[in-house]
Amino acid sequence: MAKFVPVDPFDLVIFGGTGDLAKRKLLPSLYHRHRDGQFSEDSRIIAVSRGELSQDEFRGLVRDALQNYLHEGEFDEDAWSEFSSRLHYHEQDVMSAMGWEGLQKFLDDSHERIRVFYLAMSPSLFGVTARNITEAGLADKRSRIVLEKPVGSDLDSARDINNQVGAVFDEEQIYRIDHYLGKETVQNLSALRFANSLFEPLWRRGAIDHVQISVAEHIGVGNRAEFYSRTGALRDMVQNHMLQLLCLVAMEPPTSMDHDDVRNEKIKVLKALRPITSENVKRVTVRGQYKAGAIKGEAVPGYAQELTDQNSDESGTNTETFVAIKAEIDNWRWSGTPFYLRTGKRLATKTSEIVIQFRPVAHSIFDESAGEVVANRLTIRLQPNEGVNLTMMSKEPGPGGFKLKSLPLNLSFSEAFPLRYPDAYERLLMEVLRGNPALFMRRDEVESAWTWIDQIIDAWDSTSQKPDAYLAGSWGPVEAALLLDRDQREWFDPETS
Ligand code: BG6
Repeated sequence: MAKFVPVDPFDLVIFGGTGDLAKRKLLPSLYHRHRDGQFSEDSRIIAVSRGELSQDEFRGLVRDALQNYLHEGEFDEDAWSEFSSRLHYHEQDVMSAMGWEGLQKFLDDSHERIRVFYLAMSPSLFGVTARNITEAGLADKRSRIVLEKPVGSDLDSARDINNQVGAVFDEEQIYRIDHYLGKETVQNLSALRFANSLFEPLWRRGAIDHVQISVAEHIGVGNRAEFYSRTGALRDMVQNHMLQLLCLVAMEPPTSMDHDDVRNEKIKVLKALRPITSENVKRVTVRGQYKAGAIKGEAVPGYAQELTDQNSDESGTNTETFVAIKAEIDNWRWSGTPFYLRTGKRLATKTSEIVIQFRPVAHSIFDESAGEVVANRLTIRLQPNEGVNLTMMSKEPGPGGFKLKSLPLNLSFSEAFPLRYPDAYERLLMEVLRGNPALFMRRDEVESAWTWIDQIIDAWDSTSQKPDAYLAGSWGPVEAALLLDRDQREWFDPETS
């Protein structure tokens, strides 16, 4: 197992420090890193929010969150007692330029420590918060600022945020999070592609028929119906997570793992994505919205009902909770090899995987009686059951005739490395503290992704493409199957691949 490398002393200031993300992800992740001894004694975690809370009340809130969100057996009284002494709370309205003295004074004695500002809040507050932080004199050239996704809701708003934050922090100080980049198995994609000589000669149009990237969730929109109705699956999942996965599969080998080498290659892929316009949008995209159905035998309401239940004023009729896209990359490596993307909520199961479908053999030398020669398929399972599966043709043993059979060559990471998989946020937080931006999105990356996504949204608007209904617990609308059927292909069932 990789050794824990301690990080230098830090002050991590979390704006939105009592919010959902902080409670569900950030604080549990920090607790784990603390428990593994990665923090120096004097490192501090400072939550900032508008609420009036005493230090004890805040620590009580964190304790409850850890007990709620850590897995069984992970909460430990001794570790908690040490961890809680790192926790501090400050009340501050980030919109106001006034009242920053308390935080100023608290941080003032600590210029030796790395200072990180984590903005776990609505993107509409990123600009004003960044400005107020710097005007209050809290940041210097060594400070870093972390922006949670989404950075904007379209290209214009993303540019606006990037300009506002960029006016007070240098690009090297800005860490834009896409938590998929912190997942172990997503990182493993680089190992698979660039630490094995086997795949690279085949990693191209001549050998690969098509690629499928599926990110399926069985949860619905939960208590986020209102936010979701303004966002939809395209903005929530494709603009960031799905496009990052596509880039990691499709990019040219970077010269090194250096952050700019990798990001320069990803950008080239984003720029080579064929635009989707009102001419072809109906042919290459599918929008879906779940209606009532059943997940694992349990009845669940439809999306429209959830919106009503949450007394939302928003109309969700035009919001997609599912998207499927046939993406084409116009470059020498991938021309003619489509990448099919699909993601959705309330699907049959939770799974994320990438399937590389190789082309069939050029010519079969076997008699018909040997059976079909099935083309090889590489499946990279990102979650759950992380691993890699390669189907291979073999001869069925036995004295009878010559029979062929497709068999899996299956690598399970949980069997190879029987240990706890750290949450993506644990790695990402440590990378910010170490000052390594490789796993974060550069400004031009975010903006290029929005450029492609905005065209799809415009095309949906101009052609009035409405979401097709699908049953909760299914694999999305029938139109998603037809998308591949038109190309004489089909989605692989994640449960059996
Ligand atoms: C978030 C989306 O970025 O990713 C959520 O906003 C989604 O809607 C989540 O549920 C999925 O992340 P994971 O790590 O559970 O696959």
